[in-house]
Amino acid sequence: MSIPHLTVVNHPLVQHKLTLMRDKGSPTAVFRQLLREISQLLAYEVTRDLPMTTKRIDTPLTEMDAPTLDGKKLALISILRAGNGLLDGVLELIPSARVGFVGLYRDEETLQPVEYYFKVPEALEDRLVIAVDPMLATGNSSAAAIDRLKQAGATNIRFLCLLASPEGIARMKEAHPDVPIVTAAVDERLTEQGYIMPGLGDAGDRMFGTK
Ligand code: URA
Repeated sequence: MSIPHLTVVNHPLVQHKLTLMRDKGSPTAVFRQLLREISQLLAYEVTRDLPMTTKRIDTPLTEMDAPTLDGKKLALISILRAGNGLLDGVLELIPSARVGFVGLYRDEETLQPVEYYFKVPEALEDRLVIAVDPMLATGNSSAAAIDRLKQAGATNIRFLCLLASPEGIARMKEAHPDVPIVTAAVDERLTEQGYIMPGLGDAGDRMFGTK
């Protein structure tokens, strides 16, 4: 693996779009469009070192050995529900990827993540698996989702998010040191309610217009 445990994508376009998303005055449609755009820029970064091979093709002028992605199609795993906002943009860039979903909620008494949905592509062990969730906050549900993907056979996993907290990164590093994280920013801290500060609020509510 040649990607570090934590990559913060500080490209000017990513940072500019993230600022617009943080602004509470950005309406749902704008937020959603920005998330789609930013997810493609982040996808570019999380796939930067994918293995390549060549295949023989005919251009209109000649034959050539042209570069092409090696190995099985990627698996993109959306951690519901906010993961779907990142998923859409990444899928536009990698339309042949296989797609899976992990649904978890937090039990209010035990505070532990409880699974309510799990559907993933076959042969996860042969694929690069990219799990997507915009907000890496406490890291508890992300770590639990990665646990489930490993139980289902995944061995080569990356985690793509828009914003991370230092606490979430530490939790993931402790639980899954083998899973690189790619994010647009690491914010200051978590609030007592588990929100990322300064953050952008509830990503699901902002992208789906709920609340
Ligand atoms: N989930 C969100 O949507 N926002 C946060 O700040 C933390 C978790």
